[in-house]
Amino acid sequence: MYSGNQPIIILQKNTVRERGEEALIDNINAAKAIADSIRSTLGPKGMDKMMVDDKGDVIITNDGATILKDLDIVHPAAKMMVEVAETQDEVCGDGTTSAVVLAGELLKRSEDMIGRIHTSTITRGYRMATDKVIEYLDEMKYQFSEKDKKMLKNIAKTALTGKSMEANKEILEDIAVESVLSITDEEKGKIHIDLDNIKMIKKAGGSMSDTAMVDGLVIEKERALESMPSKVDKPKVAVLSSPLKQKKTGVKASIGIKDPKQIEKFLAQEETTIRKMVDSIRDVGARVLFCEKEIDEVAMEYLAKAGIFAVEKVDEDDIKLLCRALGAQTVSNLSDIRSADLGECDTVYQKYVSGSYYVFIKGTKTKKAVTILLRGGTIHVVDEMERSLKDALKVVSLAVEENTLLPGGGALEVELSLRLRDYAGTVGGREQLAIESFANALQIIPKTIANNAGLNGLDLVMELTSRHKAGETNCGMDVERGEIQDSIEGGIVEPYKVKEQAIKSAVEAANMVLRIDDIIASRGGVGIADEE
Ligand SMILES: Nc1ncnc2c1ncn2[C@@H]1O[C@H](COP(=O)(O)OP(=O)(O)O)[C@@H](O)[C@H]1O
Ligand SMILES: [Mg+2]
Repeated sequence: MYSGNQPIIILQKNTVRERGEEALIDNINAAKAIADSIRSTLGPKGMDKMMVDDKGDVIITNDGATILKDLDIVHPAAKMMVEVAETQDEVCGDGTTSAVVLAGELLKRSEDMIGRIHTSTITRGYRMATDKVIEYLDEMKYQFSEKDKKMLKNIAKTALTGKSMEANKEILEDIAVESVLSITDEEKGKIHIDLDNIKMIKKAGGSMSDTAMVDGLVIEKERALESMPSKVDKPKVAVLSSPLKQKKTGVKASIGIKDPKQIEKFLAQEETTIRKMVDSIRDVGARVLFCEKEIDEVAMEYLAKAGIFAVEKVDEDDIKLLCRALGAQTVSNLSDIRSADLGECDTVYQKYVSGSYYVFIKGTKTKKAVTILLRGGTIHVVDEMERSLKDALKVVSLAVEENTLLPGGGALEVELSLRLRDYAGTVGGREQLAIESFANALQIIPKTIANNAGLNGLDLVMELTSRHKAGETNCGMDVERGEIQDSIEGGIVEPYKVKEQAIKSAVEAANMVLRIDDIIASRGGVGIADEE
């Protein structure tokens, strides 16, 4: 595959190299293939994908980022597209499919220009278009009160459409909004949301409608002994990171005890140490104990006698959450425990919920925390619910933080497309063509959403375009109800950031692919053509 006359060999023999247009077209094709592979999942009527890994584990999902993450992709340009999805997912939790589909379309449109226009002109045009888009987004954004639950629910609903738990979407919408609002902190007028304060417990079995949000933390544990209190009000809480038992000497002790009195003495000594440990917990004022490690039987008895509600072998993650929410410090040596190490809450109690015992920690004093108990028929259902809910939580938190949104259902893309076309006319030169291509590429979003719903995408885009021309700036489609409407009034709305980031990352990926005109790869390293 050398293109010059006499090759000068500067690379190892087993290196594969592609250059110029050939390299570019190869990259574009790989990137387009990625976009094509998830296109059918876009929008509320998008299909799900079933992914089977080499161990035979199955994931059923509609989430672009999840699909791409699990595909074993080797082509470098294709990998760049996957990175677009990952960034989008990390920053926004939504808009991943849109970002990838748009990047694919930008590349497809640039293919038609390659040969006529230099790629650097195309990328410059795309960048100019993006700058304009940001201006337009600013003009089009809709401000709402972050306490407007109805708007927040619409945002959650738009993010959840198309996910497979359709029937129980309303529960998830409510949960997403209530959870985020419960953990929202306002400090000096600045809103702060840490989604780590939302814990999810997944359980297969039962029905999705049993899914519920609990104000407070819930851990999947029982108290250590039944003779301990089952409920404690207004407790101080100790969190212990070491086991509550007699320390092992390290040597396998087969002490040569002959006299039974000696055995008694030995045991008594052991008990005294444990009792001292329990005494220090009680004396410092703790009435609840969460222990990361094991609590031995003797200790349990003493704890029960002292009226302490104790839980052993608490997960490390739960320990962290508990400390943060309760304002507690973990203690590793009980002789050092101080009252400042203790946390506080309103109540701790144990409850049996559909087949399992749980410990509920409510009214946490330092940080508000919530727990979502996810239920569904099978683990696949629960997993997809978790993924969808995580996206919805992220989207709602963005909306609460920024309280600006944009119209969905294709309205935004159609409006941007129109405005960009007008702008292109004012630019002239070759960049004009690139900006026009960008404007046309944006239409892939409404077109695909409509096509995926079994409608005629082209017709719909035409109709939307003419209504936008007539001044209906937010006019979009609702493919669930089969209507064209004002997307904001109809409640098909997305946080500003989701839309902005999706367009930005799509352009970034497309431009990155377009700038490459040389692929140098060590043999076997990538999936590019491997002829000599
Ligand atoms: N009822 C609806 N009718 C039409 N479009 C909708 C509706 N609900 C959501 N959308 C649009 O679907 C797109 C999102 O689809 P989705 O499959 O979630 O992909 P992404 O991964 O990009 O979020 C957005 O453009 C959104 O505005
Ligand atoms: Mg989405």
